[in-house]
Amino acid sequence: MNKKVIIIGASSGIGAEIAKELLVSGDIVTIVARREKELKKIAEEFNKGLKKKSVFTIRHDVTEFGRAQTLFDRAVKEMGGLDEIYYASGILEKIEPDEFNTEKDIRTLNINALGAFAWLNPAAAYFQKKQKGKIIGISSIAGDRGRVGNPSYNTSKAALNTYLESLRNRLSRYGIQVLTVKPGFIDTEMTKGMKGMFWVISAKDAARIIIRATDNGQENIYVPARWAIVGLIIKCIPSFIFKKLTI
Ligand SMILES: NC(=O)c1ccc[n+]([C@@H]2O[C@H](COP(=O)([O-])OP(=O)(O)OC[C@H]3O[C@@H](n4cnc5c(N)ncnc54)[C@H](OP(=O)(O)O)[C@@H]3O)[C@@H](O)[C@H]2O)c1
Repeated sequence: MNKKVIIIGASSGIGAEIAKELLVSGDIVTIVARREKELKKIAEEFNKGLKKKSVFTIRHDVTEFGRAQTLFDRAVKEMGGLDEIYYASGILEKIEPDEFNTEKDIRTLNINALGAFAWLNPAAAYFQKKQKGKIIGISSIAGDRGRVGNPSYNTSKAALNTYLESLRNRLSRYGIQVLTVKPGFIDTEMTKGMKGMFWVISAKDAARIIIRATDNGQENIYVPARWAIVGLIIKCIPSFIFKKLTI
């Protein structure tokens, strides 16, 4: 049966590829982001020639937290229900080694963490009532530890991880799946020009891994899986050594 899915942060990268993969499988998808032109491009491609739309678009800035419930309700109404929700919106601000910038920190927390809370809370309430549903949060391996490079990005992803774990602990008793996704390096607009990347995979490959994990009922994944080893090592390094490293 065709699923009904909302994807927040679907105008490019991982979110856009998840949308396209699901649309190819025949699912009905609402895609959400600020860049309407990019959303429309996906909608035109997949709605072409159809009597009934399979893609709905919502132009939205996730920092407008107060609008999330209304837009969530609209998406559910337009699609005639909801089975899965993906939160993929995120930013990675460039922070210099000697920079401490509260404006950038607030923006990062707002988009990467609080926007997720604003969209996933209505979904949690909806799924709890139905006793069915799947919530997928695209976090990052960067949330496993506080590092020298980008304190607020690390913090935003750690917050998202803990929030998703709490949702899972609340909702699994109702048969609801909550999946935390921790990608390593993925080739997207976010990482364009970034130096020192390794084990890079395409956004399409990442999307396929994430969809498979969703379908299989998984709760925590690294993308691709070999990043789990890095995650484990990073978590085990004692603080007195970690603070001397530049990673
Ligand atoms: N690429 C990597 O290596 C990597 C690694 C680990 C984790 N991740 C995570 O994966 C997720 C997707 O990133 P990506 O790599 O696919 O990068 P991307 O292509 O830059 O995608 C980011 C998405 O977030 C949306 N977004 C940003 N600010 C927003 C806002 N204020 N309101 C609504 N949507 C907003 C963007 O849409 P608009 O600009 O149109 O609003 C876009 O759709 C992010 O959470 C990122 O932290 C990526």
